[in-house]
Amino acid sequence: MRHLITLADLTAIETERIFSITEDLKNKFAKGLREPLLPGRVMALLFEKQSLRTRVSFEAGMTHLGGNTMFLGNEVGFGSRESIADFGRVLGEYVDVVVVRANQHQTVVELAKHCKCSVINGLTNYTHPCQAMADLFTLRELAGPLAGRTLAWVGDANNVVRSLAMGCGRLGMRLMMATPKKYQFDAETLAWLRREVPDLDLHVTTDPVEAVRDALAIYTDVWASMGQEQEREIRLKDFAGYQVNAELLAHAQKGAVFMHCLPARRGEEVTDEVIDGPQSVVVQQAANRMHAQKGILAWLLGAKA
Ligand code: CP
Ligand code: NVA
Repeated sequence: MRHLITLADLTAIETERIFSITEDLKNKFAKGLREPLLPGRVMALLFEKQSLRTRVSFEAGMTHLGGNTMFLGNEVGFGSRESIADFGRVLGEYVDVVVVRANQHQTVVELAKHCKCSVINGLTNYTHPCQAMADLFTLRELAGPLAGRTLAWVGDANNVVRSLAMGCGRLGMRLMMATPKKYQFDAETLAWLRREVPDLDLHVTTDPVEAVRDALAIYTDVWASMGQEQEREIRLKDFAGYQVNAELLAHAQKGAVFMHCLPARRGEEVTDEVIDGPQSVVVQQAANRMHAQKGILAWLLGAKA
């Protein structure tokens, strides 16, 4: 029984295996085929924060696979009515997989420790592995093998880029980050990356132009993530030079794509012109959340080894 808490939980070979299951299921889906690999299996979803993509793509994906889903709302009292350990011990008796979006990363770690079923991290303050799996799958679809290619990140060193860093390290992709000094990866994250993905080719700069120059893709995310709303005003000022706009994209190589995990704050980290422009692949990324998660579910629950 396996969990997916961070992408460090997967080897490069396992990551590639999930991508190939994803590709197969996506091709079948395009032909109207919904292979019922997980009949009778049950997924619970626990969300401490808002979600459109993660919640709906997991529910739709599990339904395509022939399984059932139950979205657990406030009334189950997750995090308030009993300990996370007791909650996990009991929930694991009923369901086969739990998708959890938590304020604190430690909540997911604790739940997984006590659940006898698989736990999937649907985003924490620290990481967002399902997002990174879908993004790397998207890049692979667009550009083929990723080893030796460059992904540029412009903005906050947040949960999404932590997971991308992990995935880049696994797949041999270089990560160029342009982030204001104060918002770069902290020592703990750097130590974690060094330990988990020692081969990661990571470059950090404060200059967005330098970061995007050789990139296959330019990725950004909101400057204030969920839970950082009180820092919004100061962050708007601190990230002022980090908007992905037409001027910045002009410094990228021809054919570079624009990526964003969504939801976006249009006019802040990205302009309408870029996110709605010909280089944007944001809808393909969002669509691939469902396909990649079907791959993750099929692999994790042993329907495809
Ligand atoms: N990208 C993403 O995880 O979106 P949601 O917050 O809507 O799930
Ligand atoms: N960094 C963002 C991602 C949302 C999908 C957040 O945590 O709010």
